[in-house]
Amino acid sequence: MSHIEHDDHSNNLLSTPSDFSKIIDNSLSRRRFLQTTAAGSSIAFFATSPLANAMTKKHSDSTVIGFNPIAASTSDTVVVPKGYLAQPLIAWGDSIKPKATLFSQTNSATDQENQFGDNNDGMTFLPLSQSRAVLAVNNESTDYATLFNDHGKTLTAEKVRRSQAAVGVSIVELRNDQQGWNVNVDGRLNRRITAYTPMELTGPAAGDQHLKTNADPTGTQVLGTFNNCANGSTPWGTYLTCEENFDGFFGSKNNIKVPKKDARYGIKSGDSDFNWHQFDERFDIQKEPNENHRHGWVVEIDPMNPNSKPKKRTALGRFKHENAALTINQDDKIVVYLGDDERGEHLYKFVSKAKYNASKPEANRDLLDEGTLYVAKFSAQDGELNGNGEWLELTFGKNGLTPENGFNNQAEVVIFARQAATQVGATTMDRPEWVAVNPKSDQVFCTLTNNKNRGVKENQALNAANPRENNIYGHIIRWEPKNGNHAANQFTWDIYVMAGNPEKYDAKNPRSGSQNINKDNMFNSPDGIGFDNAGRLWIQTDGDYSNSGDFAGMGNNQMLCGDPNTGEIKRFLTGPTGCEITGLTFSPDNKTLLVGIQHPTGNFSTMDGVPRSTVMKITREDGGVIGA
Ligand code: FEO
Ligand code: CA
Ligand code: CA
Ligand code: CA
Repeated sequence: MSHIEHDDHSNNLLSTPSDFSKIIDNSLSRRRFLQTTAAGSSIAFFATSPLANAMTKKHSDSTVIGFNPIAASTSDTVVVPKGYLAQPLIAWGDSIKPKATLFSQTNSATDQENQFGDNNDGMTFLPLSQSRAVLAVNNESTDYATLFNDHGKTLTAEKVRRSQAAVGVSIVELRNDQQGWNVNVDGRLNRRITAYTPMELTGPAAGDQHLKTNADPTGTQVLGTFNNCANGSTPWGTYLTCEENFDGFFGSKNNIKVPKKDARYGIKSGDSDFNWHQFDERFDIQKEPNENHRHGWVVEIDPMNPNSKPKKRTALGRFKHENAALTINQDDKIVVYLGDDERGEHLYKFVSKAKYNASKPEANRDLLDEGTLYVAKFSAQDGELNGNGEWLELTFGKNGLTPENGFNNQAEVVIFARQAATQVGATTMDRPEWVAVNPKSDQVFCTLTNNKNRGVKENQALNAANPRENNIYGHIIRWEPKNGNHAANQFTWDIYVMAGNPEKYDAKNPRSGSQNINKDNMFNSPDGIGFDNAGRLWIQTDGDYSNSGDFAGMGNNQMLCGDPNTGEIKRFLTGPTGCEITGLTFSPDNKTLLVGIQHPTGNFSTMDGVPRSTVMKITREDGGVIGA
C-alpha cells in the first residue's frame, strides 16, 4: 500500500455479503473448482470467451518461464532466484553531477538538485549504442521522516525547496563495461527535473481559463511536476512521466470551501501531506485556485536534450495517472492506455488523430496533442467473469458532455476528465494501476490493485470486472481489442488472476483467489506490470507486507513472472522491509533488468543510517536472458 495513502490500512471484513456478491462468489469458486478438478469441464466452462481459453491451459507448464521460483520472504534484503545477481545501480542522494555534495539529511535544495531524486518509481532504459544508454526515472515522492534530520517536525522555506527538489524525474547516462551497465556521473545528458522545472501545457486545454494563474496569465506555462508515479515511452525516443496524487501537495492557510469539481480530485483545504503551501503560495488553493488544474497530466520529456522543455499533454486527460502504455496500432495511429489510481475511478484510452511516421521521427513530436480520449465500460457475459467492453468517447458535444451537464468545451472535458467519465457511464474500477500491452499478442493487461470500498460504498457496487466485495488482494484484468485493432470501440475481456490466499481460505471462498494462485506464489496488491521481449508478464506488488492474518504467507512486497497464455505465475524477487517494488525496465537484450525498491524502512541501502529508495540491477551469473 502506498505510504502516502490517507485511509487506514486495515481491511475491514464484511460478515454478511450481499446477494449479488454471493452470485459472483459462486462464479469464482466454480471457476476454481472446475479448473482444479476437471480440465475438460473447465474448457467447456470457458468456451464462451476466447481470452479465457488461455487460462485453461495452465495444466501444462510454462515454456517461457525458466527460473526456479523463490519462497516468500520477510528478510531485509533483495532476494532473487539461484543463478541471479541483484546489485544497487543508484539510490536517492547519489551524485548525478560531478562534484555534487554527498547525501545527508542536512543537504540544501541545490545539493538535492545535483543528486538522484527520492522514491524512484517508473523508469525507462533508452539505448544509445551497445555501450551507452540513458535511464529516465520517476521520483514519485519524498518522506519528511527521512528527508530531514528532525523528521519533518518543523518546516521552513528552505526545507520546502529541498522537498520540491527531491521529487520529479532523474535522467542519468549509463555505460556498459566489464561490470555491465553502470551510472556515468559525468554524463552530458544527466538532468534533474523537479517541482520547479519550466514546462509547457499543450493540447486542447492549453490556454483555458481554468489553467490561468497570477504567475501565468496565458495558461500555457507551468512550473514542475511531482508525484510522478509510473511512466511510458514513445517510439520517437521520448519519456512519459505520469502525475498521480498531486492533491497531496496543495492546501490552504485558511479554511475555505473547496469547489466540488476539485474535491473530486481530492483537493482539500487546510494542511496537506507536504504543506508546501505554508511557504509557497503557488500551492495555497485560496491564493492560486487554478494551480492544481495544471497538475495530474502526462508529461512528455526529451531525455536526449537536457535543455528541452517538457510538455504536459492535456489531450490525455487529467486524473491521478498511473502509467502510459503506448502501442502503435495496426493503422499506425498511436494508442495510449491510462489508469486512474483511485478507488472507483476509471480506465482510459487515447487514440491519436495522426499516424506514426517511422521514417520521419520529427513528424511524430506532437502526436500526443491531438486525438480522442475514451473511457472503458465493461459488460458481463451471462453472469460470468468475462464479457464485452466498450470505449466511450470523451468528446465535447457527444455522450452528454454538453453545457447542460457542465461541459462548455473540450478543455473542460479533459481538465475534469473524472466528471466526464461519470457523465458517460464508465465502469468504476478497483484502482487501475499499470497497464501493459503484450508485444506477442494484442492483449492488454491492467492491475486493479485493491479496493476496500468495492461492494461497500454505494457508488461502487460490485460489477463483473470488479467482482469481489472488499477486494483486499486485487486482481489483473485483460482485454483484447476487436480484430486486434486498438482504435476499435469494442473489446472482449476476462480476468487473468484474482490474487488471494488459498492457505487461509478454502477453494469455495473467492478470497482463495483464482486457480493460478497457490501457496507458493501468493501475493497481494499487484501494481507495476510490464512485458519483456519474449512476452513474459512481470508483476510487482505494493501491498500489505504484515505476513499475518489475511496476508499470512505472502511476506514482503515482491516481483513475480507470469505466463500470459498459461496463467502460470512464479515468484522472482522479494524486497526488503517496508518497501514497495515499483518500476521495471530492461536493456534491449533483456540481459539486464532494473527494478525499483521504493521507501524501504529497515537497514537496506542506508547512508548515515537513513534507508534509501534504490534502483537495483538484476543480471544472471551466466549472462543469460532474465526470466528465460
Ligand atoms: Fe504511485 Fe498508484 O501508485
Ligand atoms: Ca508508491
Ligand atoms: Ca503504483
Ligand atoms: Ca500502489
